[in-house]
Amino acid sequence: MKTFALLMASLMMANVAHAANNGDPLSGKKLFEESRCLSCHAATVFTKPDRKVKSLAQLESQVRTCDANLSTNWFDDQIIDVVAYLNQAYYKFPNPARTQ
Ligand code: HEC
Repeated sequence: MKTFALLMASLMMANVAHAANNGDPLSGKKLFEESRCLSCHAATVFTKPDRKVKSLAQLESQVRTCDANLSTNWFDDQIIDVVAYLNQAYYKFPNPARTQ
C-alpha cells in the first residue's frame, strides 16, 4: 500500500512537470492578447481552410518566426505558452509530451 502511494505521488509529480513543459494556455492567452500579434494578420489566419501550420512543431516554429518580427522577444517559456494557447483555441493538434 505504501509503495502504491509512493507510485501515485511520483506519477502526480511527473504530471505536473509534464503540464509545465507543454505550456500554460492561460498565460499564453494573456501574452497573446497583450502582444501586437494581430497587427499583421487577424486571428482568422489560424482558422482559414488553407492555413499553413500542420503540426505542433510547425506551430511553434511559426510563432518563433512571427515573434522575431515584433520587439516583444518572448522567452522560450512564453513562446511555449502562446503555442499552447493557439493550439487549444484554434489548431487542436494532439499534444504529445515535449522532448526538450
Ligand atoms: C510583421 C508581421 C507579423 C507579425 C507582427 C506577426 N505575424 Fe504571424 N504571420 C505573418 C505572416 C505574413 C504570416 C503568413 C500569413 C498567411 O499565410 O496568410 C503569418 C502566419 C502566422 C501563423 C500561421 C498561420 C497558418 O497559416 O496556420 C501563426 C500561427 C502566426 N502567424 C502567429 C503569430 C503570432 C503568435 C504573432 C505574435 C508573436 C504573430 N504571428 C505576429 C506575419 C506576422
